[in-house]
Amino acid sequence: MTQPRVSLSHAGFHVFDMDKMIDFYVRVFGFKVTDRGEDHLVFLGADPKDHHQLIMIGGRNTEKGAVHYGHMAFRVDSLDTLREIYANAKAEKELTDLRTMTHGNAWSVYFQDPEGNTAEAFVDTPWYVQQPFLEPIDLDQSDEEIWKYTEELLSKNETLRPIEEWRKELSEELGLS
Ligand SMILES: [Fe+2]
Repeated sequence: MTQPRVSLSHAGFHVFDMDKMIDFYVRVFGFKVTDRGEDHLVFLGADPKDHHQLIMIGGRNTEKGAVHYGHMAFRVDSLDTLREIYANAKAEKELTDLRTMTHGNAWSVYFQDPEGNTAEAFVDTPWYVQQPFLEPIDLDQSDEEIWKYTEELLSKNETLRPIEEWRKELSEELGLS
């Protein structure tokens, strides 16, 4: 089976009570905390294909019960598909906050749709680095240039590892292997 061009990968949302929400998702779904950032940012995963399926961000300020989420992210199959989505997004008049970034473990395009929902499209890189990690990238560069630029960005990062190694470790922790 070939890889789909676009598939849903993860969602993010704000929470009132971080510890309570982590415990809930760990208890109910068996998620593991895969990384933590400062400023109340927690990544949870249950599928080693992804660094996380959930991002919880502290400081929720909308009422309980209000329709609420932070962002949704779609994995795409190549940098060319990512460029295509970026070009499509650029042509949209009502879309805002268009950005191209790398998380070290992904190359991403972010934007807000016409109703202000944050959407992300990304391609996996072959690397793991501790999250959060965020640097701008230039999608006008060739694939080789983007690889080289990202490798240089990550070369001084002490948490850098091959993503397959990280996936294997999480699989073991989750009892999948
Ligand atoms: Fe994301």
